[in-house]
Amino acid sequence: MITIYKEDRKDLCKLIIEHIVNKLSEGELNIAISGGSTPKLLFSLMATKEYRNKIAWNKLRIFWVDERCVPPSDNDSNYKMTYDSLLSLVPIPKDNVFRIKGENNPEQEERRYNEVVAYELKQKDGYPLFDIVLLGIGDDGHTSSIFPTQMELLDSSKAYEVATNPYTQQIRIALTGRAILKAKEVYFLVTGENKKKILQNIVQNTKEAENYPSYFVVLNRKDCKLFTDVHIPNYTDN
Ligand code: 6PG
Repeated sequence: MITIYKEDRKDLCKLIIEHIVNKLSEGELNIAISGGSTPKLLFSLMATKEYRNKIAWNKLRIFWVDERCVPPSDNDSNYKMTYDSLLSLVPIPKDNVFRIKGENNPEQEERRYNEVVAYELKQKDGYPLFDIVLLGIGDDGHTSSIFPTQMELLDSSKAYEVATNPYTQQIRIALTGRAILKAKEVYFLVTGENKKKILQNIVQNTKEAENYPSYFVVLNRKDCKLFTDVHIPNYTDN
């Protein structure tokens, strides 16, 4: 794992945006984005004057890593968070936005979204090939909506599967482990002191980390990039 540490969260997000801007100068970019609260700052910055005109919106195609099975008007919807902080503020063509429809029947939506990514993206070993998969890490070590109670989703032959948040029983649709590993680039954006313990376990390869779905990704993608404002002494590239 390659750690990119910046004390200032904005500076950290700017680095990710600069990566995106550079990639877009080479052509179309297919990115799968996560939800939760962490990427909100990144999205809001992308919509500011500073970046709005630098991003080639017509070449950026947005997919989702995961979605909560709620309508897009619900405050829990990852699409809603992205729409409010980014999509409603920038000139991205509607056809470049591929949302997971949280309002649909989960099993049907799993099937539909697997078809969407199979049609829209190049395939690699039977999985969709994203240019960038942008992940978060939950404070139990989950990533995408793969929770420690559902480690089998790490090994799924499907790109997306129905998942359940074990704390709230909320149904979700999640990009699975093997599909994450296929991406050209895997980024983690992890901010806030509440994530320190988890990051420490991951970086120090503790026994505890073996329960984290995020650790599976770190172990299997040595080149993944961790963007963080959490300072951990002796970061090692594991
Ligand atoms: C989601 C996510 C999830 C998220 C982590 C971190 O829908 O919840 O995509 O994997 O990245 O839970 O969430 P926070 O950013 O809210 O801490």
